[in-house]
Amino acid sequence: MELYVYGTGCGAGELAREALDPARIAAFVEASPARETFLGRPVISIEALAARTVDLLIVTSKDAPAFPLPPEKVLYLKNHMALRDRNASYDAARSALGDAFVDRLQRQEALVRAPLWDEGLFDAPGDWVRLKTLEAICRRLEPVPGAMAELGVFRGEFAAAMNALQPERTLYLFDTFEGFDPNEAAPEGLAAAHENASADAVLQRLPRAEKAIVRAGLFPETAAGLEAETFALVSLDADLEESTLAGLRWFASRMEPGGYLLLHDWNHPGLPGVRRALERYEAERGRRLPAVPLCDITGTLIIPF
Ligand SMILES: C[S@@+](CC[C@H](N)C(=O)[O-])C[C@H]1O[C@@H](n2cnc3c(N)ncnc32)[C@H](O)[C@@H]1O
Repeated sequence: MELYVYGTGCGAGELAREALDPARIAAFVEASPARETFLGRPVISIEALAARTVDLLIVTSKDAPAFPLPPEKVLYLKNHMALRDRNASYDAARSALGDAFVDRLQRQEALVRAPLWDEGLFDAPGDWVRLKTLEAICRRLEPVPGAMAELGVFRGEFAAAMNALQPERTLYLFDTFEGFDPNEAAPEGLAAAHENASADAVLQRLPRAEKAIVRAGLFPETAAGLEAETFALVSLDADLEESTLAGLRWFASRMEPGGYLLLHDWNHPGLPGVRRALERYEAERGRRLPAVPLCDITGTLIIPF
């Protein structure tokens, strides 16, 4: 098995320390070799590599040039720099490095590889940061008890992602499915855009619909009877001030330690009521909530508990 490693920096050192005995490396490769050996192995140029028989070239630098090899023989470890998976396949890596190493690598890459995209669950490429943040948050939720909920489900796009990422958790779906509270002044275009939804259609798009409980109607009335429930994850996406405030009041005291509330549109210039609702809630409580603003398209605020 002829293994080569591109790069002689931190990435290559880390690989040799953690996963690959340098004795197994035929040579390190550099675009312009500045030394003859690295970790006791020869350093060769890309031109010299072209004359070798290569089973696998492991790229440990993010600034990699083109290589004179079929793509399936190149394994990129520094994918995260490019925010996408650059590997044509992992087959050569599996036989060269073993399943345990490649499984670990793929788990790490899953953060940037957009698996939900492939399943077509979340049809909003422009909202990539929010989805990937949800995915990362779900990785931290495992020991946290409690249900999930979304206030403001509409056609269930984000709810489907929550349901897919936490398939064993109960998911409460709060929405009128007929648009906003008529007592709240919604901008005309916004109101019209949210009239056509149905709870059945939402359930149909959920991969684990049996975990969902629909609470159709006006929140917070629709939360009656759930006072003893606690939550690990809540998406608050009601767009308007009074409903958002009602959501903050109702959910915040029921969040489990370690849980997260995602306040969507907190930084949305077209929906200033969301930010005002949070300010009113914080004024009521007499303190600011610890929170992390997200750089997604509409400025979600992540509130950890
Ligand atoms: C922006 S949409 C939600 C989008 C959804 N999260 C998604 O992934 O596409 C806002 C929704 O909040 C709902 N809503 C707002 N205030 C509400 C309230 N007080 N009770 C029930 N539903 C409400 C509206 O009916 C609307 O469907």
